[in-house]
Amino acid sequence: MTKETKFPKDFLWGGATAANQLEGASLEGGKGLNLADVLPGGKVRLSVLSQPGFDFEMDTDKYSYPNHEAIDFYHRYKEDIALFAEMGFKVYRMSIAWSRIFPNGDELEPNEEGLAFYENVFDELHKYGIEPLVTIAHYETPLHLIKEYGGWKNRKLIEFFERYVTVIFDRYKDKVKYWLTFNEINGATHFPLFGLGFSATSEETRLQESFQGLHHQFVASAIAVKLGHKIIPESQIGCMLLYAPTYSYDANPENVMYALEEGNLFNFFCGDVQVRGEYPTFINRYFKENNIEIDIQQGDLETIKEGTVDFISISYYMSRTEKKEKTPEEAGAGNLIGGVKNPFLKASDWGWEIDPTGLRIGLNELHGRYQKPLMVVENGLGAYDKVEEDGSINDDYRIDYLRDHIKAMGEAIEDGVNLIGYTSWGCIDLVSASTGEYSKRYGFIYVDKHDDGSGTLERKRKKSFYWYKDVISSNGDNL
Ligand code: BG6
Repeated sequence: MTKETKFPKDFLWGGATAANQLEGASLEGGKGLNLADVLPGGKVRLSVLSQPGFDFEMDTDKYSYPNHEAIDFYHRYKEDIALFAEMGFKVYRMSIAWSRIFPNGDELEPNEEGLAFYENVFDELHKYGIEPLVTIAHYETPLHLIKEYGGWKNRKLIEFFERYVTVIFDRYKDKVKYWLTFNEINGATHFPLFGLGFSATSEETRLQESFQGLHHQFVASAIAVKLGHKIIPESQIGCMLLYAPTYSYDANPENVMYALEEGNLFNFFCGDVQVRGEYPTFINRYFKENNIEIDIQQGDLETIKEGTVDFISISYYMSRTEKKEKTPEEAGAGNLIGGVKNPFLKASDWGWEIDPTGLRIGLNELHGRYQKPLMVVENGLGAYDKVEEDGSINDDYRIDYLRDHIKAMGEAIEDGVNLIGYTSWGCIDLVSASTGEYSKRYGFIYVDKHDDGSGTLERKRKKSFYWYKDVISSNGDNL
């Protein structure tokens, strides 16, 4: 990093997790089952996520369900938060599992044990001066809402969500200032199951169902922002986008135009609605050409306009490269979110292309479009780790990845971007969302737990733990 690149004095350094990927205790403390509880572990999960027609039934003879135990944060949160504090975290991004608060999702009264659990977690964080940043919905729709109501396709979920957020805002108003509404809201059209809590009826209906579900979430998110500002006047409530700057494969204007359209749709559609409070005009043509008709009820657009977010948060793992005409081989290569292989980039063991400059590009794009504070709330390298005979874990590859991305953020700040924080993903090893594996590790803290279910759950500090501690204490100077 060049000497003159400086992170702001009060920059929020920390780490990020989601309830379903680390808490475990899936049926303890009055919690009901949720989406993640019925997703099988292993690579089979990817096909469940991307193919229509999943029935949400568990088959324990055939599959494992790692989210049930996860890394047992539910019982070990004090030990884990002490480790976050040792690294010097200023902020910890976590989510509340909706089904801990409302086990079925449609009850009138919340579950006190669930409320008390998160209260204890927030108190523990504050003991060390760590600010919680809470995602309200992170791939955790209560199973009952999925089975009985069809997930977010059903407008009724807005009402249940409003009850849920009212309860948590009221209860935690003195403990939580930073909130995010829906995790990676724009991932919905690719993987409706995760965010919208339904499996498309068929490939033909996927887009129609997903955009209708998204509309319900836009209204629900805006209601949450309005309520949050009323109940917690000093609150900062953000949206959360899966951001992947979209490059044209080459200088062919046809490909450039295609990349622009894909980028608009994926990166900006949801942001435009949640930040500007309006459906962008480019979506009209897309809806028309794809026979999508959204049921927008009276008052919805006003609600969306009144409930715009205070800041924008993103997950950033990879960029995307697009080409209008792709051969089947080209189309299959590369990232989870599509595109073609970029010949200039290397990829992780899971095929996700590594592109630190893409983060600088993305932050500049978002700053140019919205002029709102930005936060990177997910970024990291999923990798296999090896515990050496002396117990050490030398994850230099992870340090290299994070260093390059932090440098890119420093450059973006120099470019004039208003970046307020960084929480790297999976600061403690946890269950992967897309593949349900333990072996895809992101953490600074190693957890002794393996894909076959074995392991003691013991926590160990990796080399990156000490490195990140130094990054935080030097406010990004020592990389
Ligand atoms: C994001 C999600 O998509 O990426 C996280 O918000 C997820 O929940 C993360 O864990 C990394 O993906 P994966 O599949 O490697 O766990």
